[in-house]
Amino acid sequence: MNFQTDIFTKFDKDWALLAAGDIDDHNAMTVSWGGMGTLWGKPVVTVYVRHSRHTFGYVEKNDYFTVSFYPSAYKKALGIMGSKSGRDCDKDSEAGLSPVKAGESVSYKEAEVTLICKKLYSDDIEMKDMPDDVVREYYPTGDIHRFYIAEVVDIIQ
Ligand SMILES: Cc1cc2nc3c(=O)[nH]c(=O)nc-3n(C[C@H](O)[C@H](O)[C@H](O)COP(=O)(O)O)c2cc1C
Repeated sequence: MNFQTDIFTKFDKDWALLAAGDIDDHNAMTVSWGGMGTLWGKPVVTVYVRHSRHTFGYVEKNDYFTVSFYPSAYKKALGIMGSKSGRDCDKDSEAGLSPVKAGESVSYKEAEVTLICKKLYSDDIEMKDMPDDVVREYYPTGDIHRFYIAEVVDIIQ
């Protein structure tokens, strides 16, 4: 299991898809906030999901999720996955992405790299503990993020 990347551009500039569920019933959305590192001696990924996302329910109810990265040709598809909700439409079809089974979860055939992630810990970030300017800029309606720290159990590439 090995994956070489520049973590500071991988999420922020290239973006990723966070998917949860199975091939028949799943949802995915674009994420650009995230981290990779080490916790409790394990390789981990951290993602931040607002409660309002349709994907939130899928990440909550499943033990696994995937974080997948794409060639630049799919930037438009990631834009669709990050602006439409799976509540309202079939995002996979609109984005032209093909879901595939990935370990105990789901990813997309078009992915360059898929991290298979097993949830270890999650909690809501607390507005009372944030700098005031962050609250004003990112949480004017109180739609906060829950963070999920997950063990990377496999890397498909
Ligand atoms: C570039 C980009 C990055 C995003 N990053 C995040 C993120 O890290 N966390 C989050 O909660 N939403 C993020 N979003 C917003 C969701 O992807 C977007 O609201 C999506 O439509 C949710 O889909 P869903 O309702 O089907 O889950 C991002 C959107 C874009 C375009």
